[in-house]
Amino acid sequence: MGWSGGLIMPLLLSLAWAGTAHADIDTSEYELKSSIRSEKEREQFRAQLEKSRVEEVERERAQAEAEARRHAEEMERLAARPYPVRLLEARCTVCHAATNYENQNHTWLGWWLVVSRMEYFSKVALNSGERGVIVAHLTETRPGDTRIVLMEYGALAVSLLGAALLVWQGVRRIRQKRQRNSYAGDQGQ
Ligand code: HEC
Repeated sequence: MGWSGGLIMPLLLSLAWAGTAHADIDTSEYELKSSIRSEKEREQFRAQLEKSRVEEVERERAQAEAEARRHAEEMERLAARPYPVRLLEARCTVCHAATNYENQNHTWLGWWLVVSRMEYFSKVALNSGERGVIVAHLTETRPGDTRIVLMEYGALAVSLLGAALLVWQGVRRIRQKRQRNSYAGDQGQ
C-alpha cells in the first residue's frame, strides 16, 4: 500500500461514516417533517370533509326548499284556474285521462250526450248545476266544426222527424180504427 492507499482507506471510512450520519439526520428530519405534514394534511382533510358535508346539507336543503316552492306555486296556479276547468278536471279525470275529451270536438248537443252517457252508464256523480257548467265549458273550448254541427244536429233532426212520423202514424191508426168502429156501429143499427 503506497501513500495513496493509506489515504484512501480513511477517506472511504470517513465517507461511510458521514453517509450514515447524514442518513440518520435525514431520516429523523424526514420523519419529523412528514409527521408534521401528515398532521396538517389530516387536519386539512378533516376540514375539507366537514366543509363538503356542510355544503351537501345546504345543497339538499336548498333543493328541498326549491321543490316546496315549485309545488306551492303549482298548487297556486292550479287553484287560480277558472272554476269550469277545475270542475272538469275534478269530475272527469277520475276514471280516464283528460285526453278522452281533449281529443274530441262536439256541439253543445254532442257534449251534453257525452256527459249524460258518463252519468248514466259510468255512474259519474255530478252535483246539480255541474253538468251545465261542464257541458258549456267543453262546448266553448272544444266546439264542433261545420261537419260536426251538421252531423250532430242532423242526427237530432232525423231522430225528431222519425219520432214525429211514428207519432203521426200512431195517431192516424187510432183515428182509422175509431172510424171503422163507428162505421161498424152504423151498419149494426
Ligand atoms: C266513473 C268513471 C268515469 C268518469 C268519472 C268519467 N268517465 Fe268518461 N268514460 C268512462 C268509461 C268507462 C269510458 C269508456 C266507455 C265509454 O265510452 O262509455 C269513458 C269514455 C269517455 C269518452 C270517450 C268516449 C266518447 O264518448 O266519445 C269521453 C269523451 C269521456 N269519457 C268524457 C268524460 C267527461 C267529460 C267526464 C266528466 C263529466 C267523464 N268522462 C268522466 C268512465 C268515466
